[in-house]
Order: sequence, then C-alpha cells, then structure tokens
Amino acid sequence: MNVMTQVHPFLDGKTKRMLIGGKWLEAASGKTFETRNPATGEILAHVAEGDAEDIDRAVAAAREAFNGPWSKFKPAQRQALLLKLADLVEENIEEFAALDTLDMGAPISRTRGNKARAVGMLRFYAGMATALHGETINNSLPGEIVSFTLKEPVGVVGAIIPWNGPLTAAIWKIGPALATGCTVVLKPAEEAPLTPLRLGELCLEAGVPPGVVNVVPGFGETAGAALASHPDVDKVAFTGSHVTGQSIIRASAGNLKRVSLELGGKSPDIVFADADLSQAVPGSGMAVFANSGQICSAGTRLFVEKKIYDEFVSRVADFSKTLRVGNGADPETQVGPLVSQEQMTRVSSYLNIGRQEGARPLSGGERLTDGDMAKGFFVPPTVFADVRDDMRIAQEEIFGPVISAIPFTDVEEVIERGNKTQFGLGSGVWTRDVGKAHKLARAIRAGSVWINCYQAMDPAVPFGGYKMSGYGRESGVQHLEEYLNVKAVWIKTD
Ligand code: NAI
Ligand code: MG
Repeated sequence: MNVMTQVHPFLDGKTKRMLIGGKWLEAASGKTFETRNPATGEILAHVAEGDAEDIDRAVAAAREAFNGPWSKFKPAQRQALLLKLADLVEENIEEFAALDTLDMGAPISRTRGNKARAVGMLRFYAGMATALHGETINNSLPGEIVSFTLKEPVGVVGAIIPWNGPLTAAIWKIGPALATGCTVVLKPAEEAPLTPLRLGELCLEAGVPPGVVNVVPGFGETAGAALASHPDVDKVAFTGSHVTGQSIIRASAGNLKRVSLELGGKSPDIVFADADLSQAVPGSGMAVFANSGQICSAGTRLFVEKKIYDEFVSRVADFSKTLRVGNGADPETQVGPLVSQEQMTRVSSYLNIGRQEGARPLSGGERLTDGDMAKGFFVPPTVFADVRDDMRIAQEEIFGPVISAIPFTDVEEVIERGNKTQFGLGSGVWTRDVGKAHKLARAIRAGSVWINCYQAMDPAVPFGGYKMSGYGRESGVQHLEEYLNVKAVWIKTD
C-alpha cells in the first residue's frame, strides 16, 4: 500500500485549520507551524498555530455549547453520536493509520491495530452513555427525607495530549466527554496534530453539535498553558511528561479545576527463572521496543533472576537484532523512527549516559545513519546489561527503545527494588508459579500489572498511575467518573 494515496485529499497542500464552534478557522495571529514526517524529514502540512486568543475563542464556543442544546441531549442521543463516530472512524481506518504513521513514525502495522482499538473505545463509551446513573441512599435523619445523587457532566474539558498515539489519545478524551455530556477543547501535540484534526472533521460529519468538540493545535507553552490556566475550563485531562503535569497542576490552581494526569513511567518488567522463556524473550523485548519505546508504560527496567540473567539478556539482545527498523510506511517495518530531532537527541544522550555509567550495550546503542536513515530520527533497539538501580538509565524515563537489564536473586528483593522508582504506571511479571504471580500482583505499586503478557489494554479495563505517574483512570467505568460531578439532592417529604 502506498500510504500517501490513503491520506489524499486530507493532505491537499492547504493549511490545516483549527476547529472552533463548528468552523475551520485560521489562527487569530495568522501564524502556522510545520508538521514533518520523522522518517524522512519531509514537511507534511502547515498547521494553524493556536495561542491564548484561539484558546479563548474555543473555550467560549465550548461553554456556549455546554449551556446550549447539548445540555438537552438525552443519553441515547449521545450514544448514537458516539456509535456514528465509531462507524466513521472504522470506515476511514486506513487513512487514520496512514496519517499517524506519516506524522509520528510508528509502523503501519501498529497504527492499523491502534485504529481498530480506537473504534472499540468509541463503542465502549457509547455503551456507557446510557449506563450512567446516580444512587438512592438511605439516610438516618429523623422524619421523612429522601436523599439521592445525580451525576452531572463537569462542564468544559481542556484535553492536552501527546504525540505517541495521537488518535487513541484524542479518543481517550473525546469519548468520555461525549458520553457524559461535557464539551471539549482538544490541544493536540505540536509533533502530531493531523489525526486529531481529521477526527474533528468526522465529529462534525457524525453530527456532533458545533462547539461540543473543538480542536486547537499549537505549542505547549502557549496554547497548552492557556488551556490549563483558563478560568472558564472546568477540568483538564492531560497525558504527557510528569514535568509538564506538574506545571498543569500549578496552572489549574487559579480556578481549582479538576485535573486528571496520565504521566510517564519507568516500569519494572520482572522475569523469573521459572518463566516460559520462549514467551518472555519477545514479550520483554516488545514491552520496550513497541512504538520505539515511546509508550508511557514501557517495561524499561528489565529485572532478570540471576541464574538465567546472562542467557536471558543475550537472548533479548539477539531478539532485538532481528527487528526491522525503518520507515513506518513500509509494511515490513517493526520499529519506526523517534518522533522528532528533539526526542532523538534526548534518547541519544541517555545512550551516552548509560555507557558513561558503566552499563554494557549488547545491541544497538547508536543512532542509525545509513543511507536514507540519516534524514530521519532512527535509534535501533538497544539492550544495556550490567545496569545498577542507581544509574540514571535505571531511574529516568528515556522514551526510546532502550532496555536497562538488572539482575536480582529473590522475590522479596525484587519487589523492593522494583518499587524503588518515583513512577508507578505499568509492570510485568513472567513466571509459571501462580503463588508468585499473585504475590507480585499485590506488591507492585503501579496502576497495571501484566503477568505473562505486557501492554494488554481494553476499553473496559482501567489504566492509570500510582505515584508520579499521575492520578485518575482512563478506560473502564472509572474513566467516566473523571468527567462527572456528584450532586446530592435532599427532599423532605413530611
Ligand atoms: P510534554 O508533556 O511536554 O507534551 C505533551 C503535551 O503537553 C503536548 O501537547 C504539549 O504541547 C503539551 N504541553 C507542553 N508544555 C505544556 C505546558 N506548559 N502547559 C500545557 N501543556 C503543555 O512532552 P514532550 O515534550 O512531548 O516529551 C518530553 C518527554 O515527556 C518524553 O521524552 C517522555 O519522557 C515524556 N512523555 C510521556 C508521554 C506519556 O504518554 N506519558 C507522552 C509524551 C511524552
Ligand atoms: Mg515538552
């Protein structure tokens, strides 16, 4: 498949505009920015560059929609819209996959899978739209007084998303908002704004009323910061780095907005000697190499039981050398480029830090620059052996295809060392011992524990962080609660 044919006519050479109040507008400043293909360095499109003024316009449109006819939509009507949107995304799945591959580099095989997941997510939120309900609660007050709760949408949601899975990230914010009756101003990442904008087109096509979903591309320090601090935004839903998450919290203080944060990680992936190694080798490898390591829950601290450490780590390194690195548009590619020059520089600096700290690269370790690769941002799958807990490559999020392999001797020890991190997003355990599996499932301080698998995700199963990986949950029934207020109603009847 030639992916370029899939994205015509969306990429027609014209400036991609922002969606505000149901209309496609230029930035108030008239400014635009470029979005590029990280595999080739080519410019894909010029995109309207939103800043505080555009965020203001979008928030006003979202508020008007929230107070207007949208508030009269019945749950079944919101459900119908979400189902229609799911159908439209499904019909255009190849285009979405191609757009994400071009804009952020992931292999087309992966972006196709993500798009199918995105459709499932929309249908899950559609189902939830008609399942929301309050409760009648027995109180102990004297006399006749009834108490019950109403679940109400929080209002205008500012959604700020990263570039590592643009369509799924956008749906993870728009889905619960539409299901609960909120309105949204979505700020895509500057590195990958295209699929969120295309999704905005489909929202209109599905019949989502003007102003309910607004999409304002722009940079973090301008558009993102304006959204996080806007006095008329009721909630911010953020996915990205923990440092930016902290600035979102500070920015939200002005009107004490609700905040949910899905941040970074340094997840332990623990392999016991009794594991099925034929599964654990590729499983632990792909726990990091999938999406070139640009996944918040990647299992980057690979703890391996000492008696199999040398053998296992060299098998993972051998596995890493079999992966085809290249342009994501090639269907054979398994590992694409990093998203940007900035990310490549950052990941490369960690490769140097790892060597300086005394870790031993068994595979990868250097940026690839052969032939056309020099035009893109390619870092090959890398396995560092002889890593110690106190090294920076064992503590800091690298966000690249880099495994830090660490030996351990027993269960209690690996629990303690596995939990010695500021983060708590994902974790993996590979064992055939059911007792160990259960023990680890409880002992690990992280929002997800994957046993004999990694990165399993489902729209019905909550995902989110402990500690500095953030708070709030996405997916699952819990996700909807993040977009709802609970109101208690008392009625005296005697
Ligand atoms: P970032 O957290 O700075 O950017 C994510 C989003 O936040 C983007 O839309 C950006 O425009 C916006 N943003 C940035 N600064 C902002 C501010 N002051 N106020 C409001 N919004 C703001 O992440 P970035 O710079 O793309 O990557 C840096 C590192 O963050 C990566 O190397 C990785 O370690 C981590 N990261 C984690 C992600 C995750 O899924 N948890 C996703 C992306 C990055
Ligand atoms: Mg940033």
